[in-house]
Amino acid sequence: MATAYDIAMKPGNIEEGGSAPAVTVENLHKSFESQKVLNGISLSVSRGETLAVLGRSGTGKSVLLRLIIGLEKPDSGSVRIHGQETAGMALDRMGEIRKKMGFLFQHAALYDSLTVAENVAFPLEHHRRDMSKAERGDRVKHLLAEVGMEGNLDKMPSDISGGMQKRVGLARALALEPEILLLDEPTAGLDPISSGEIDDLVLKLQREHQMASIVVTHDLHSAKTIADRLALLNEGKVVIEGSFAELQQCDIGFVQEFLKQS
Ligand SMILES: Nc1ncnc2c1ncn2[C@@H]1O[C@H](COP(=O)(O)OP(=O)(O)O)[C@@H](O)[C@H]1O
Ligand SMILES: [Mg+2]
Repeated sequence: MATAYDIAMKPGNIEEGGSAPAVTVENLHKSFESQKVLNGISLSVSRGETLAVLGRSGTGKSVLLRLIIGLEKPDSGSVRIHGQETAGMALDRMGEIRKKMGFLFQHAALYDSLTVAENVAFPLEHHRRDMSKAERGDRVKHLLAEVGMEGNLDKMPSDISGGMQKRVGLARALALEPEILLLDEPTAGLDPISSGEIDDLVLKLQREHQMASIVVTHDLHSAKTIADRLALLNEGKVVIEGSFAELQQCDIGFVQEFLKQS
């Protein structure tokens, strides 16, 4: 069965973008039947920058990432990757753009039937046919070492902890040296210590690779730790976007409530 990951990584063609932000979304609208989920979202993120997208469960954070990756199409509005409009783009061309994006889905981050090493090798097998088996093996070891998992190559996902699974998912997201990193709830379901370790890892990877990163989370502590800017969503709109200090100073009731409850 094709998973979201397979569909997302389907190959195609692309031209290079210029100096535009890595990701820009403008006035995005998306409904499912009568339910309006996104009601005019505009955001952008540049190389070297991490944007945290915050909001309560069900506010459309995962939908927003799926629109950016092109797994779903917006009803209206624009998604530009390095300045290139992708909202109306055919799936095969989108596949090539996606090679520049590493992503970690909220659920089912790994293939259950593949070992840790095979999971990380997967994108390389499909998109780096120029690599020999030995080169691929070396790259997998290097990627797993980057996330502190080099001692677990032959383990199955079910034999490692949730935090370790996220680490392996991050290694796989980095396999094709993405310029854009999209993480959906990387700390969800983890205990505070494991969450803190993932936050530290995301910070380290961001320092080393200087990607444009969007991290969706409902975890304010995590967002505060890893992000340069935060955007808080509610009822399909960005309520406020800015630094953590700017959110704290904001006198909008919803923002204060969110900060208090998180
Ligand atoms: N494919 C879909 N079909 C119908 N409704 C969907 C679909 N994807 C998301 N939704 C709905 O959109 C809303 C936002 O979902 P989601 O983006 O997953 O929220 P969040 O990630 O912020 O918790 C939810 O009410 C969800 O049920
Ligand atoms: Mg979600």
